Amino acid sequence: MAGDSLLVKDSRTGKEITLPIIQGTDGPPVVDIAQISKQLGLFTIDPGFRSTASCQSKITFIDGDKGVLLYRGYPIDQLAEKSNFLEVCYLLARGELPNREQFLEYERIVTDHTMVHEQLLNSFKGYRRDAHPMAIMVGVVGALSAFYHDSLDIHNPRHREISEFRLIAKIPTIAAASYKYSIGQPFIYPKNELSYTENFLRMLFKVPTEKFEMSPVLIKAMDQIFILHADHEQNASTSTVRLAGSSQANPFAAISAGIGALWGPAHGGANEAVLKMLNEIGDVSHVPEYIKRAKDPNDPFRLMGFGHRVYKNYDPRATVLKQACHDVLNELGQQNSPLFKLALELERIATEDEYFVEKKLYPNVDFYSGIIQSAIGIPENMFTVIFSVARTVGWITQWSEMISGGEAIGRPRQLYTGAPRRDYVSIENRS
Ligand code: CMC
Repeated sequence: MAGDSLLVKDSRTGKEITLPIIQGTDGPPVVDIAQISKQLGLFTIDPGFRSTASCQSKITFIDGDKGVLLYRGYPIDQLAEKSNFLEVCYLLARGELPNREQFLEYERIVTDHTMVHEQLLNSFKGYRRDAHPMAIMVGVVGALSAFYHDSLDIHNPRHREISEFRLIAKIPTIAAASYKYSIGQPFIYPKNELSYTENFLRMLFKVPTEKFEMSPVLIKAMDQIFILHADHEQNASTSTVRLAGSSQANPFAAISAGIGALWGPAHGGANEAVLKMLNEIGDVSHVPEYIKRAKDPNDPFRLMGFGHRVYKNYDPRATVLKQACHDVLNELGQQNSPLFKLALELERIATEDEYFVEKKLYPNVDFYSGIIQSAIGIPENMFTVIFSVARTVGWITQWSEMISGGEAIGRPRQLYTGAPRRDYVSIENRS
């Protein structure tokens, strides 16, 4: 498609310009509008970025109509079945799957960084006990820049790499500590002989008086949750990380901003909202009533875990997690879990209902992840924290791609609809 272009004519002046159309490896081509403001004196507007590519990227590809998700070209279902989270981290950050030696070296380096500075752990005590763990995550991840300022030169590739290792290695330790703090239990230090995911689960659940043991089926399911959430191209939190990082802020500050964006129920907070919704529905017999509410334009209620800005088909991550949900519940002898039955029934009815079919609203990644995490024993307010642990590799990889590509500061323009220029009136002369 080289040489394709879009002719744009300004009807006010009759002036025409030709904009290049660029085709990526896959996906719809994009129109390069960079010359519009210079040549026509016009800006473009697209609130919510429904038609706008914010950058070029080589990391993740989504075909929302077909329900395809690729990390560096590899299908998500293959990675979830055959790989492990740390290997996926290597793939995302380095661009290729590692050979055995490269993997072992990567694992050793990440493992070497799992502890956090003791004073950072002390900082948890400044938070209220009943703080949401995501509130703690936003603060503590940002605070990493106060502890690891020896590697904050963002223009130095080695510094960027060290920050990547530190973030991937320390985020489970911080996430587990945010939970332990909220329930008044002592922090559990990392145990480096364990895998990344088992180590995280141990830091979450172990108490000093008891031995920690967990079924490999549950560890595998959590590892899959990590893999499936590791990156998702230019979603709200990743775009936030890129925008914050484009000001040349340090990566810890940029990722702390991303954690804030992830928190909302329209993004990462949806898995927490799904479980709340399932508990509120309570029984299969109430499903039709809630489906009716979800379809009512005057009712703000939405089926949480349904619909996606990009997927207009079954989210491929939901397919993997539906199976993982079966595996985990079987392992725990909870095949008849009322929550799972309710979720299956909700999915069945919604996917046959004209409203959902017409609007192409299918279960997304959050629909089953909450049930799995709940069965493992993870409380609802930790679901989004776990999403942030997984997404950290995506954020740091996207940030690094942007910085090494020398992108300019992100500075959108606006369509101003406020008051025209007017003179200040002193208070005694105002009506
Ligand atoms: N339940 C009922 N109706 C819905 C839903 C839903 N879950 N999602 C979208 N719709 C309707 C919406 O009312 C609108 O109808 P109309 O055209 O009549 O106004 C239409 O479908 C299009 O919705 P939209 O809000 O314009 O779509 P969007 O692309 O802006 O929003 C979404 C995507 C994910 C925010 C939305 O589908 C939603 O709120 N879903 C529930 C929350 C959720 O599960 N979020 C997790 C997303 S996946 C995790 C992640 O990647 O972070």
